[in-house]
Amino acid sequence: MKNIVINGGRKLDGSVSLQGSKNSALPILAASAMVNGISVIHNCPDLTDISAAIKILRYIGCKVKREGNTVIVDASCAGRFDIPEKLMREMRSSIVFLGALVSRFGRGSVTPPGGCEIGLRPIDLHLSALQRMGVVIEEKNGRLECNAPCGVRGCHISLAFPSVGATENILLACVTAKGETVITNAAREPEIVDLADFLNRCGARIRGAGQSVIHISPAKELVPVEHTIIPDRIIASTYMACAAAAGGAVSVKGVIREHLMPVTGIFETAGCNVMFSGRELIVRVPRRISRIRYLRTMPYPGFPTDAQAVVMAMLATANGTSVITEKIFENRFRHVPELSKMGADIRTENGCVAVVEGVERLRGAKVTATDLRGGCALAVAALGAEGETVIDSIHHIDRGCENFELCLTQLGADVKRIQ
Ligand code: UD1
Repeated sequence: MKNIVINGGRKLDGSVSLQGSKNSALPILAASAMVNGISVIHNCPDLTDISAAIKILRYIGCKVKREGNTVIVDASCAGRFDIPEKLMREMRSSIVFLGALVSRFGRGSVTPPGGCEIGLRPIDLHLSALQRMGVVIEEKNGRLECNAPCGVRGCHISLAFPSVGATENILLACVTAKGETVITNAAREPEIVDLADFLNRCGARIRGAGQSVIHISPAKELVPVEHTIIPDRIIASTYMACAAAAGGAVSVKGVIREHLMPVTGIFETAGCNVMFSGRELIVRVPRRISRIRYLRTMPYPGFPTDAQAVVMAMLATANGTSVITEKIFENRFRHVPELSKMGADIRTENGCVAVVEGVERLRGAKVTATDLRGGCALAVAALGAEGETVIDSIHHIDRGCENFELCLTQLGADVKRIQ
């Protein structure tokens, strides 16, 4: 088993280049399966979740090559529309392949992505949207058999919640459908815009991505293109939190300022100095950060749930009491008992409110990464803690952070990965 060992208490001072966005790359890789030809996708981070998506593409018959951070997908021979349970379960967001399969083959057979990590993560919104588009869904032997006997048809879909995955699945399923589609209460995340940009370059006709109402006019077919994945705003927030916990100054290169607006205000309220110079972000941290009186996670452009854990870890040593309300997932405080092992004073109420009493200093401990962002939160806490922290179950971190230890080392941290 591999662990990450961090010797805390060193101020950070350094610069890191930001990786491409995992949450953007996954649906775009799924979309590449709908293109009859070779898609070239740049800035794809080297992560286990991306490898899982590549395995699915290969299973359905695509030829996939990786050259550094460029993934080349030839989907001209794709011919399978079923995804085995093992591949579905390897990565929770495998469900986004369903829209792509239905669009390309008029049918798809998947298992529910299943498992409970940060919440129940139902897919009812995905399925009811597909049904409205003429897809007949039957559950057989634990599989979802999806068929569009008369083809996928455009329609008006009003989402009960602006689900990122459901919005992506609808976009994928409807771009070559018969007739117009309108999505209201669509997710507005930058990753939706990136997916729509990719699809539009391929010939799709999507208008309004990034807003609550998205219009999609039918396209005949998708043609192959080159595309560069947007930078990962959540990983940028993670490095900002690392700086805030450890002190010092950190520069993150390759950011898109607008994507970070939902988080920069929080760091400023905590007393950090946040500066942008073109595509570079510089965070300078005061001797001790201040509490955030009230923080609540929201769909974009609100504060992202994916940055909640790392910000909580930084607030564990803030001056005063912070209150964090998690509004997106029902089981997203699994890092709290681990932070407590390091001396954090956090109590949770109803699983969705965390009251963080800032303590002077955390101390190193043996802790377990419980999920991707929770694992990153432990690293944030460890950087500011006294002594050595050993984080195990780091496969969670490897799902989303590319070269994590190397990047932290570049920022001046004392980090190593051990067997
Ligand atoms: C995506 C991101 C994840 C992020 C989340 C919210 C990817 C690969 N993952 O996850 O990192 O934390 O957006 O920004 O992009 N819901 C339903 N029914 C559904 C779908 C969702 O009830 O059919 C609920 C979920 O349980 C959750 C909320 O809606 O409570 C948000 O989920 P959603 O936006 O769909 O998140 P994901 O796409 O799973």
